[in-house]
This record gives sequence, C-alpha cells and structure tokens, in this order.
Amino acid sequence: MPTVLTLGGSILAPADPDPAHLRSVAGRLASWTGDAPLFVVVGGGVPARDAIGLARQAWADPAHPHVDESLLDRVGIQATRLNAQVLATYLHAVGTDCALRVPTSTAEAAELGIEHAVVVMGGTDPGHSTDQVGAELAQRVGAPRVVVATNVDGVYSADPRSDPEAHRIDELTYDQLKVIIGGTDWHQAGQTGVIDGPAVALLSEAGIEARVCDGKDLDNLEKAVRGEPFSGSTVREGA
Ligand code: UTP
Repeated sequence: MPTVLTLGGSILAPADPDPAHLRSVAGRLASWTGDAPLFVVVGGGVPARDAIGLARQAWADPAHPHVDESLLDRVGIQATRLNAQVLATYLHAVGTDCALRVPTSTAEAAELGIEHAVVVMGGTDPGHSTDQVGAELAQRVGAPRVVVATNVDGVYSADPRSDPEAHRIDELTYDQLKVIIGGTDWHQAGQTGVIDGPAVALLSEAGIEARVCDGKDLDNLEKAVRGEPFSGSTVREGA
C-alpha cells in the first residue's frame, strides 16, 4: 500500500540547514521504498516563514492595509516546492528512484507514483498547509494513514510552552483534535500548529488515520511509517 509522509519544514529547512542530516533523512527514506510508492510532502520551514514575513511587509503602508493572505500562501507554496526539490536531489544522490520533477498537484503526484518509488512534493493551492496536501494525497492514492513528522512528539492537550499541565495524548479522535486546535479553518499564511485545520477536516471525513510524531527521531518515524507501535499520537475517526 502507498505510504504518505508529511515532513515539517522545521525538520528539513531549519534556520541552519545540515547537509549531513539531509543525507541521513534521504538514506532512511530510500530504505522505506518497496512495491508501493512513497509520497513525501515537504513543509516550508524557515525559508517559507522568512519569505512570507518579507512579503507581508508589502502591506505595511497604512495606505494599503488589507493583507491578501492567499497571495502570502502562494509565497509559502514556492518555499515548500524549493525544499521538495532539494530533498529530491538528495534522494537522487543516494541512488533512489525518485521523481525529479516536483508535482504541483496531488493528481500529478499520483501519476508520478506509478513510475517512481518516491515522489516528493510541496504545496498545491492557497488556504492550507502541506498537512492538507498529505491528506488529499492519502485519499487519492488509497493510503491507510498519513504520518505527520513535525517538531513536536505528538498532540498535546494544550500548548506545553504556556501550560505546565499539558500532556501528550497518545490516542484521540478527530473530534477531540478539532477542539484542541480550535476548529478546522485556515487563518493566515505561515501559521503554525501541530496539524492544520483543513487537513483534519478532510482526514476525518475520509476516515484516514493520522500518526503524529517527532520528525527528528528517524527510528521512531520508521515505526510510524511501517504501521508499527510508535511514540506519538494516533488520531482516528470516533466510533
Ligand atoms: P507549511 O505550513 O506546510 O510548512 O507551509 P511548515 O510550517 O514548514 O510545515 P510544519 O508546520 O513544520 O509541518 C508553509 C506555508 O505555505 C503555504 C501556507 O501559507 C503555509 O503556512 N501553503 C503551503 C499553502 O498555502 N498551500 C499549501 O498547499 C502548502
């Protein structure tokens, strides 16, 4: 069965990118290829935040104060595609059969998956993050789950940076997750959060499982990808 993994930009494109880390991620992804394609959806990371921040200044002039968020989303999308092309390059360098063209839609990605072991992509359209792209892709290719590899080790009951009582929830339903993230709307370009609202709405509707884990721990990520017990949070549609 196809595998869909969303790799947060903070993992691949931090402020200080590390080529050795990228090589080890690429090597690990290569080892997960099998009969069915592996789809990797890459986030925007620091390049996306920086470019969105710069573009947002276009509306700093009080004479033109109405920020066009969808235009800023488009800036973010370009950064995700740049990161995807970089990861595809590393995968190619370790000898993986990776599509070298970064698809711009999930339909194009699914087609490339017929011919290649790995397909790497970034964003598609404004109004959501790459989590939603992973959700759409999983639905399109019939993947049993989406693995969300991010910079936290799961879904917390509240923001652990501000709430000392916050604890990780290892098993939860989409209804519980919607409450924790404050609904399924998209608010603004570059917004952060464990998983984006539109993706949660789609996964919930499609009944696709999400596994959320720390993308820096590659051994644990491998377990999540292989459908084995892992450390993190599993989200399912309630009974
Ligand atoms: P992401 O939010 O997916 O990157 O895209 P990220 O923040 O690095 O990923 P995580 O949070 O660590 O998992 C960056 C921005 O690009 C735009 C949005 O503005 C998003 O915040 N984007 C991305 C879109 O508008 N559409 C897409 O399909 C993808």
